[in-house]
Amino acid sequence: MKRILVTGALGQIGSELVTRLRQLYGGEEVLATDIREEGGVHGRTGPYRKLDVSDGEAFLKLAKEHRADTIIHLAALLSATAEARPLFAWQLNMGGLVNALEVAREQACQFFTPSSIGAFGVGTPKTGTPQDTLQRPTTMYGVNKVSGELLCDYYFYKFGLDTRGLRFPGLISHLAPPGGGTTDYAVDMYVQAVRCGKYTSYIREGTFLDMMYMPDAIQAVIDLMEADASRLQHRNAFNVTAMSVDPERIAASIRRRMPHFELAYNVDPVRQSIADGWPDSIDASAAKQEWGFHPQYDLDRMTDDMLRHLSGKLHTGPKAAI
Ligand SMILES: NC(=O)c1ccc[n+]([C@@H]2O[C@H](COP(=O)([O-])OP(=O)(O)OC[C@H]3O[C@@H](n4cnc5c(N)ncnc54)[C@H](O)[C@@H]3O)[C@@H](O)[C@H]2O)c1
Repeated sequence: MKRILVTGALGQIGSELVTRLRQLYGGEEVLATDIREEGGVHGRTGPYRKLDVSDGEAFLKLAKEHRADTIIHLAALLSATAEARPLFAWQLNMGGLVNALEVAREQACQFFTPSSIGAFGVGTPKTGTPQDTLQRPTTMYGVNKVSGELLCDYYFYKFGLDTRGLRFPGLISHLAPPGGGTTDYAVDMYVQAVRCGKYTSYIREGTFLDMMYMPDAIQAVIDLMEADASRLQHRNAFNVTAMSVDPERIAASIRRRMPHFELAYNVDPVRQSIADGWPDSIDASAAKQEWGFHPQYDLDRMTDDMLRHLSGKLHTGPKAAI
C-alpha cells in the first residue's frame, strides 16, 4: 500500500481508518472519498473528493488522477438500512463493488473490502462458526455480503487481482456514529450510559453476537493488506472477532464503572430477527494462522476506553461527535 483510495471514508470505519493510514503512509498518499460534499477532518489532513461509487467513470478517473495502487472500498448500505430498502441495497452494495473491482483491475490495484458476520445464516453453526461453512443468509445485506465474497474470490482467480477481505463482527467505536447496522445498539449503550445512565435495548437479553473494538479492526485491515500473499489461503472474508457478548454482558461491564447504569428492553422485531440469523461466536483461527490476527481489546478494556473517550466528548458541549 503506497497510494490509497478509500471509498465511504466518512463512515464509522473510514473515519478512523483514513487517519491511521495517513499516519502510516503519508497524508497526501491517501485519497479519502465519500458521497458527501464536505470531507470534514479528512479534508484538512489530506486530499478529499466527493465520489458516488455508483458512477464507475468518475471512480476510474479519480483513481487514475491519484495514481492509486490500493483501493479500500467501504461505501455500502448496512444490515438494518439494507433490509428497509432491499432493492437499493442490491444496487449500491453490488453495483458499487463491481465498479470498485473494475477500477482495481484496470489500474492493477491491491483491493480490500469488508464482509460481515451477516454473510452467515440458516444452517450455519451458531458457535465456533468455522471459516469455511454453510452460508445461506436470508437478509439482503447477507445476500450482498456472500455475493461480494464470491465476487472478490472470482477477481482473484480470473484476473489475478490481489483481493483481500475480513468478515467483520459488530464494530464498536466512539468517533463516528454507526451507520445502520444491527449491532449499533452496543455503541448506543455506551453513549446513553454516559449521557443519562440508562439504555433501552432493541436487541433481546441473551442474544450473543461477535464484536470488536475499532482500533483492532483498523489494525486488522492494515495487517491483512501488508501480509505476505504466499501465506494467504483464504484471501477474502477472514473471520475476525474479539468477543462474543449479549446486552447484559456489556451492561455488566459498564456497571463496573457506573454501578447505577440501568438496562431495559424494547425489542425491535426486524433487527432481532437479523441478529437471530447470525452466529453467537465465530472462529478466527484462520486469520490468526495465515496473517497473525491478534486483537488487543477484550470487553472490559474496550468498555474502559469507550467510557473514557465518551465522557470527555459528551461533557464538552453540543458539538460532540456522537
Ligand atoms: N461497522 C460495522 O460494524 C461493520 C461490520 C461488518 C461489516 N461492515 C462493513 O464495513 C463497510 C463500512 O462500514 P461502516 O460501518 O463504515 O459504514 P457506514 O454506514 O458508517 O459508512 C458508509 C459510508 O458510505 C458512504 N456512502 C453511502 N453511499 C455511497 C455512495 N453511493 N458512494 C460513496 N459513498 C457512499 C456513506 O456516506 C458513509 O459515509 C461496509 O461494507 C459494511 O458492510 C461494517
